Amino acid sequence: MTELTTYKSLKNTTSIVCTYNEWDPLEEIIVGRIDGAVVPHLTREFKTFAKPEYWDFFRQYGGKPYPQELFKKGVQALNNLQKTLEDQGIVVKRPDVIDFTKTYKTLDFESCGFNSGNARDFLLVIGDEIIESPMAYRCRYFEFQAYRSLIKDYFNKGARWTAAPKCTMADAMYDQKFPVTDVEESKKWISSGRYITTEYEPCFDGADFTRFGRDILVSRSLVTNNFGIEWMRRHLGPDYRIHVVRFQDDSPMHMDTTWVPIAEGMVLTCPERPCLDQHILDMFEKSGWEVHTPPAGLCPSHIPLHLTSRWLSMNTVVIDKERILVEASEEPTIKFLKKLGFKPIAVDINHFFPFGGGLHCSTCDVRRKGTLKSYFNNIEMI
Ligand code: NVA
Repeated sequence: MTELTTYKSLKNTTSIVCTYNEWDPLEEIIVGRIDGAVVPHLTREFKTFAKPEYWDFFRQYGGKPYPQELFKKGVQALNNLQKTLEDQGIVVKRPDVIDFTKTYKTLDFESCGFNSGNARDFLLVIGDEIIESPMAYRCRYFEFQAYRSLIKDYFNKGARWTAAPKCTMADAMYDQKFPVTDVEESKKWISSGRYITTEYEPCFDGADFTRFGRDILVSRSLVTNNFGIEWMRRHLGPDYRIHVVRFQDDSPMHMDTTWVPIAEGMVLTCPERPCLDQHILDMFEKSGWEVHTPPAGLCPSHIPLHLTSRWLSMNTVVIDKERILVEASEEPTIKFLKKLGFKPIAVDINHFFPFGGGLHCSTCDVRRKGTLKSYFNNIEMI
């Protein structure tokens, strides 16, 4: 590819917490955990995430621990990931165990928890700052507690720490008219820009933001609203440019199975969820980025309760220019990445899929060796 652009290096990597993008050489990462997990209740907002074929499971088990076999295999999957990363020389940290079966009551609602397996949803690291996301699901209200020991430790070692305004998750936060039980109707709502979450208060998941140095892409999704995006824009200030991007997606949630950078100048695009914004495509093209379309994920049929799409195959973690973690059963994707010049490292993590995510979802990179750069030409500063 062509020379990307000249850049101004604003920060160095002396902080224990420091990442600006998804591909600089990885040094330290958090891997979530599902110990203490509980099957969430089938609330209206959770129905927009769980596929209707699994609703009976959630009705039966809501508020109870997962069936033992499912749970044990999920724990093992994340342990496999930890071991693979450590074998590659990466420091791995894990959150605390929380008993998510406990019922809690706020001024506005009552709920039990979920799990803390998907670190990427809650934690967003930008530079030397750890941002706690104001998540949108009632069953995720107390997920932050699993990470507090780690965050306090990083803070004590020099990181900055911000908790975005926590959502009340009052009824007004959810559109009571959103057609959760009618898949076709909900697609129409989403294509016209209406979601289960309202603009009552800011909400976002870290996984809806994708970091490209000074430029950060974000999508309005079922769990990230415009209020949350605006909060982030003002919070980060003029050092960063937030670009709101739309994809063709019936159930938008998290960018890391849709538009996935795998190296400086190289991004994967999900063929079933093309980018709808020409100016974003132009921004990548004009700066010499290669946009590659990976083969379809296999969505292994032996995995019960596969909550997400088959595009978890794209949910990869970059270690450096050569090494990239990929789910072990995704052979077409592994072959494809080899052709692009990578040396993929297979991780057997598919038994984690019932807990809501894959490799990228379950992790949060804490430190990558690199500086803050601009990877796009001719972008006006906001
Ligand atoms: N909407 C995404 C969620 C990934 C965690 C998918 O199912 O592909």
